[in-house]
Amino acid sequence: MGNSSVDTSVGYNQRGHTLVASGQAEKLSPLFELSRHLNVPLGVQLQHYGAQGIPRSPEAPLLTPSGHISSSTRRRVPQTQARIMSEGDIWHIIDLFLTSARYAVGAGCRLIQIQASNGYLISSFLSPATNIRDDEWGGTPLRRARFLVELVRKLRRVLPDDVDVTVRIGVDDGLGEDGQLPELLGDVVPAVAEAGASAIACSVGIAETFSKFFSSPDDTIACLRKAVRLLKRNTPIPMGFTGSLTSLLQAEAILESGDADFIGFARAALANPNLVNADLSGFNPQQCKGDAFCFRDKREEQATRVYCCVNPSYRRPEQLQRKYEESRQ
Ligand SMILES: Cc1cc2nc3c(=O)[nH]c(=O)nc-3n(C[C@H](O)[C@H](O)[C@H](O)COP(=O)(O)O)c2cc1C
Repeated sequence: MGNSSVDTSVGYNQRGHTLVASGQAEKLSPLFELSRHLNVPLGVQLQHYGAQGIPRSPEAPLLTPSGHISSSTRRRVPQTQARIMSEGDIWHIIDLFLTSARYAVGAGCRLIQIQASNGYLISSFLSPATNIRDDEWGGTPLRRARFLVELVRKLRRVLPDDVDVTVRIGVDDGLGEDGQLPELLGDVVPAVAEAGASAIACSVGIAETFSKFFSSPDDTIACLRKAVRLLKRNTPIPMGFTGSLTSLLQAEAILESGDADFIGFARAALANPNLVNADLSGFNPQQCKGDAFCFRDKREEQATRVYCCVNPSYRRPEQLQRKYEESRQ
C-alpha cells in the first residue's frame, strides 16, 4: 500500500493518505485480515514527501536537508518556503515514521517499506544534488544515508521479529553526474542491510526526471538492471526493481540472468490486475499503453482516484483524458 504519509503537515495533493492515528489504522485492519486469509503479504509503504510535497498550511515551510524546493512544487505553489532541517527536526521525523509503523503493525500489517526513492524526503537526503550538508547527515554517501540507516535500525528494534522492514531506494535520479548514481550507493546498501532491512527495491527518477524515464522504457530497464546487478554484489539480502516492465516473460528473463532477485509491476498490474494469469495463458487483452497518465492522476486535483486507459474498471473520465492528451501535443 503505497505512500502512507507519516506527516500531516505536507501532502502530495490535498487528499493524500496519511497514517498518523489509530482510527486510520483500524480502517485498514480488514485489508490485512483479508491478506492473511488469502496468504498474500500486504505491506505498508511509509512516506514523507519532503521538498516534493505541498505544505497543508501555506505559511508552513517544507522540511528539507539543504533548503531546496522541487520545481514541481514551485510550479504548483510558488510561494512555498523551505527550511533546512535541524538535528531536532530530523529525529522528530524519524519518530513520526516509528509512530506510523506501530499503527500499521497494530492493524495487522506484517511488512513495512520505507520510501527512500523518487526525490521525496529520505531520497533527498541520499542524493548529493539536494543534500549539501557538512554535518553528520551529509558530505559522504554514508553520512547522507544516516537518516535512512538510523530509521531502519530503530524500526528493527521496536517492531516484532515477524514484521519485515524493506527499503525502496532511488539508484539514479536522472540528473547525471550532479545527482544520485548507483556507484555512490556501494557502501549504503550493506549499511541498510546491516541495520535490519530484509530486502531492497530499487527505482529511478525524481519529479524533475520522471517523464524522461517513463518515455524511454528500454533505457530505464537497462539502467535499473545495471544498477541492481552492481549493488547486489554488496549484500546478501534480496534486491530487485520496478520500472517499465510489461510482461512476465521480460521479468523471468531478468530473474534468470541473475541481475535481480525480484521484479515489481506498477502500471502493467493496474492495466490488468490479472496480469499473471493473463500472461501465463499467453493472451493479455489489457496491455498497459505506457503513457503514465495514471501517474499524473496521483497529483491531479481533478482526479478522485488513479485511472487507466485500458482497464474498464478504472476508466479515466473523458475530460481528464483529453486534458492529458492535449498537454502532450
Ligand atoms: C498510479 C501510480 C502510483 C504509484 N504509487 C507509488 C507509490 O505509492 N509508491 C512508490 O514507491 N511508487 C509508486 N509508483 C511508482 C511505481 O512504483 C513504479 O516505480 C513506476 O510506476 C515504474 O514502474 P512501472 O513501469 O511498472 O509502472 C506509482 C506509479 C503509478 C503509475
